[in-house]
Amino acid sequence: MSDQTRRTFLKQAAIGAAVLAYPSSKVLGANDRVRVGMIGVGDRGNDLLDQIVKVPNVELVVMADVYSRRRDQAKSKVPGMQTLGDHRRLLDMKDIDGVIVASPLHIHARHFLDTLAAGKDLYSEKTMTWSIPEADKCLAAAKASDRVVQIGLQHESSGALVDTKQLIKDGAVGKVAHVESWMSRNTPHGKGQWVRPVPSDCIPQNVEWSAFLNGRSDRPFDGFKFINWRLFWEFSGGNCAENMVHQIAWIMSALDLPLPSAAYMSGGVFSEKDGREVPDTIAVTLDFPKDIVVTWQSTFSNRHYELGDRILGSDGTIEHHFEEPIQYWPEKTNRPTGEAMKGKTPNQNHMQNWIDCIRTRGTPNAPVEIGYRSAIAVHMANLSYKKKQRITFEEAKATAPEY
Ligand SMILES: NC(=O)c1ccc[n+]([C@@H]2O[C@H](COP(=O)([O-])OP(=O)(O)OC[C@H]3O[C@@H](n4cnc5c(N)ncnc54)[C@H](O)[C@@H]3O)[C@@H](O)[C@H]2O)c1
Repeated sequence: MSDQTRRTFLKQAAIGAAVLAYPSSKVLGANDRVRVGMIGVGDRGNDLLDQIVKVPNVELVVMADVYSRRRDQAKSKVPGMQTLGDHRRLLDMKDIDGVIVASPLHIHARHFLDTLAAGKDLYSEKTMTWSIPEADKCLAAAKASDRVVQIGLQHESSGALVDTKQLIKDGAVGKVAHVESWMSRNTPHGKGQWVRPVPSDCIPQNVEWSAFLNGRSDRPFDGFKFINWRLFWEFSGGNCAENMVHQIAWIMSALDLPLPSAAYMSGGVFSEKDGREVPDTIAVTLDFPKDIVVTWQSTFSNRHYELGDRILGSDGTIEHHFEEPIQYWPEKTNRPTGEAMKGKTPNQNHMQNWIDCIRTRGTPNAPVEIGYRSAIAVHMANLSYKKKQRITFEEAKATAPEY
């Protein structure tokens, strides 16, 4: 074999091995264009669309949404793109490398599993799933696959997380027994948090209602529930799934926490008395095996303290506010010469990180494991709220999801 032939042979063998490793997708070079599709392009999907079209060398080729208004909106933003009603037609397309899922929570697992089964890389919005059994299935599918999975937990790409991990590693925080976190919002009197107006074109002719129901009991079209699915347990996980998940994932990553051993959640529909089922006022306590308790509180009727996390260590305190650098203060009792500081590491772009990993086959900043652990924490809290009692991990696993 000549050198030239040997080189060609080795190159082809390498490509062959790579193709075997990624059987249903082509192998992308560093400069190859990544072709992306989107499933569910509503409110959040539009944010993600705006993000993905800014990532260099990426082409948004196609989207699938059950509501014609969403398809028209996407087409007006990206005129060349194909629009479909059924996500399965999108997944049939052989020339799509990655899929972004931003559908309502109760359909995440289906879109997650279908996307991996079609051999595509996946960016799935949080919370990873609506229930614990679905989270188990998605974790198993992702582990059995070689696809790149990024969960839409963008706090995981923050410089604040890098700085926090470093301070903990350096011993500047000491023993952490308690982390407190909170999230608060407010709306003008008479306007409920999360309530969206139903557009006049939100009628049965324009929505594939049964695909939205996704196995929930059949019933006549309900435009209010279609638009405001967040307010109802059968589609939603309430504010734990919408917001606690970001913070709990960040705290779990910062402290390398395993699954919670127990959860307790109290609260109720105290401020938004508009027929919603999910609570607006919440106090969650999560126990962890490493002798740590994490608390998360939320209200929709006062936003003074907005959103934050405080890691309370024997040797130092870290305070974190979303998209801001962390602040650190030494505990003078145990670190008399320590100095206060502000984090310096810049945030990464979570979407760019997914695309980079599609090219390198690396692990993204919010892989399936943190999607899973944070989802379990959410579901344990919600199950405890529904049962009105403390629930252990084992009890939560044995409890059938209900709504
Ligand atoms: N990471 C974040 O910061 C962040 C912020 C907001 C929302 N989210 C998450 O994004 C997801 C979507 O939230 P949203 O506010 O955009 O909801 P939304 O109702 O505005 O959008 C959902 C879209 O999915 C479509 N859809 C419904 N059923 C479908 C199906 N079977 N197939 C295809 N499309 C379908 C709807 O028509 C709609 O366009 C939720 O999981 C939410 O938690 C994440």
